[in-house]
Amino acid sequence: MATAQGAPAQEGGKLDVNQLFAGTCGWCHSDGGRVAGKGPKLMDTERSDEFIRNRIRNGKEGAMPAFGQMFSDADIDAIIKYIRTLKPDEG
Ligand code: HEC
Repeated sequence: MATAQGAPAQEGGKLDVNQLFAGTCGWCHSDGGRVAGKGPKLMDTERSDEFIRNRIRNGKEGAMPAFGQMFSDADIDAIIKYIRTLKPDEG
């Protein structure tokens, strides 16, 4: 019964990053960011935290909306952590 998926504990978290990502980012970054969609694959990215933070805050003209108004720094930290811990979907 190997169904444990290592679901992240909600450490006092108001933010469910999985859900947030699926709802807000997932229609461009497919399968939770595991595969490319309208946007590139994010899993195993070689970008720095700073790059990712910047991209989420400022978006990219004509490609990705800016989310700087929507997310706090802590939210973005959580998203970066989410991206860093993405694993291939097995099954
Ligand atoms: C409308 C589609 C769209 C949405 C929604 C979107 N993105 Fe993107 N994203 C893109 C595109 C397109 C790029 C590539 C931009 C470029 O050319 O550098 C990108 C690039 C990125 C990158 C940089 C990847 C790299 O290696 O260059 C990150 C990180 C990222 N997005 C995270 C997010 C997160 C987190 C969200 C949700 C909060 C999100 N994106 C929502 C379309 C989208």
